[in-house]
Parts: sequence; structure tokens; C-alpha cells
Amino acid sequence: MTSLTADHLRSGFSPVDQLRAENAALKEQLERCQALATVGTMTAMILHEFNNILTPVINYAHLAADGDQQMVAKCVRKTTEGGQRAVDICDALLSMLRNRTGEPVRVRLAELVERSLLAMGRSPAKDGITVHIAIPGGLSAMARPAELMQVLVNLLINARSAILAAGLRGRISITASRTDEAVTISVADNGTGIAPEHMHRVFEPFFTTKTGGAAGETGTGLGLALCRQVLHRMHGDIAVESTLGQGATFHITLPA
Ligand SMILES: Nc1ncnc2c1ncn2[C@@H]1O[C@H](COP(=O)(O)OP(=O)(O)O)[C@@H](O)[C@H]1O
Ligand SMILES: [Mg+2]
Repeated sequence: MTSLTADHLRSGFSPVDQLRAENAALKEQLERCQALATVGTMTAMILHEFNNILTPVINYAHLAADGDQQMVAKCVRKTTEGGQRAVDICDALLSMLRNRTGEPVRVRLAELVERSLLAMGRSPAKDGITVHIAIPGGLSAMARPAELMQVLVNLLINARSAILAAGLRGRISITASRTDEAVTISVADNGTGIAPEHMHRVFEPFFTTKTGGAAGETGTGLGLALCRQVLHRMHGDIAVESTLGQGATFHITLPA
């Protein structure tokens, strides 16, 4: 809580101006925390994936050292594939961290969704999750690509957690469509779903049901708050619908 002191009065700003400035500074700090929290969640998944990529790369390199020509050819192909996937993940992540300012530009959605899946680090298939994408090839929207990727990665990571918590064969569908003024991107999963009493709270900063009990996941409650904030800044929005026990669908809208 801020107290109004003689300092405020001496500074020449009115107490209301002071509070506005403090509010703006706190919002900026919160946003930085949110961005770091996303990176934090992703780091573990990405390290795990790099381990999965590099272990076979090393094994194939050892095999190539004393294999026949056919074996060497196979090893070179396998190590090249592994190396390429590692580079693709790095590129996707870097493009998410770069270009975080500036005016929204026209973004091709099918490509951005593909890059967001890569930036997740871990392929959903490894967790038995099928990803179904239905986005018209030429469909685009006005957005800041790095920030939109961050929103999508957050939604995908949440979908993955909800599916793993439900312990079902998972499915994530990503669809997009447009009207005259707006484009809607929807990310739907068949995970745990959201309890009716939590529906209006999920976009609140620090609201999380991931409390780490029984070796469960620990959340920060910052992912969806970040999604909403960055979408508002791009003149977009986000909404959710869900049936508990059946899954959740998040709808992103952006200017067409
Ligand atoms: N796809 C989803 N399915 C079910 N619940 C979800 C989903 N996405 C978000 N939630 C709920 O919203 C809460 C807030 O999400 P988020 O802001 O990303 O924070 P965190 O993931 O750190 O908990 C989650 O703890 C969870 O209860
Ligand atoms: Mg989250």
C-alpha cells in the first residue's frame, strides 16, 4: 500500500499522478515476471527435449566410428536430423524472444502455429497427444508475431498439462477462421476441463490450480494473465469455454 507523504507533495505531482505512475511501473514489473515465468515453464521441457535429441546423436556418432559404409550413411542421416531439430527449436525460441516491440504486422497463422509447436520444445506426440491443425493456408491476422507465439505456447503448455492430468489419450485441435473484421484462433483440448467456479478467475494474475500436491505440477498463475494482457495490447482478446471433465477451448481474437 502506498502512503501519501510530504515527498509526493514536494515532487510537484498530485497524489493521483503519483499513484498512476506507480501503477504503471507495477504493471510493467508484472509483465516482466510473466515473461520470465513462461521461459521458466518451458526451460525444463526444452532441456528434456535437447537431452532426447543429443543422446541418440552421440550414440550414432559412436556407432559411425567403427561401422561399415552403410552404417556410416545411416548415422550421418540420423545425426543430421537430430541436429536440424535442435536448430529448429532454437530458431523458434529465439524468434519468440526477439522483436517484442513495434506495431502489429500481418502474420500468416499456419506458419506461426507450426513455429509455436516447435518452441514448446517437447513434441506433444511424445506424450501420446495428437495435434490436429485446421488453418486455411493463406489466413493471416494483424499481430506482433513474437507475442502471439508466446500466447500460443502458453495455451499449448496448459492444454498439455490438462491432458496429462486427465490421464487420457490426448488431443489438441488448433483451428482458425475469419469474419470481415476479426480472426479467431481456437485451441481446444480434451483434458480435465475447468470447474465452473474457476471459469471467471483463470485470467487473473496468480490464479492457479497447480499447487504441486501429490507430486503434481506447480503453476505460477501468470500464463493466461500474460496472454490476455499482450492480446489487449494488439487490439485482440481471449475467452474460454469449458465443460469440467471434457476439456477446454480458448478463443483468441485479433484484427483481421
Ligand atoms: N487447457 C486448460 N484446461 C484446464 N484448465 C486450464 C487450462 N488452461 C488453464 N487452466 C486453468 O487456469 C489456471 C491458470 O492458468 P495459467 O494462468 O496458465 O497458470 P498456471 O498454468 O501456472 O497454473 C490453471 O492453473 C488451470 O487451473
Ligand atoms: Mg500456464
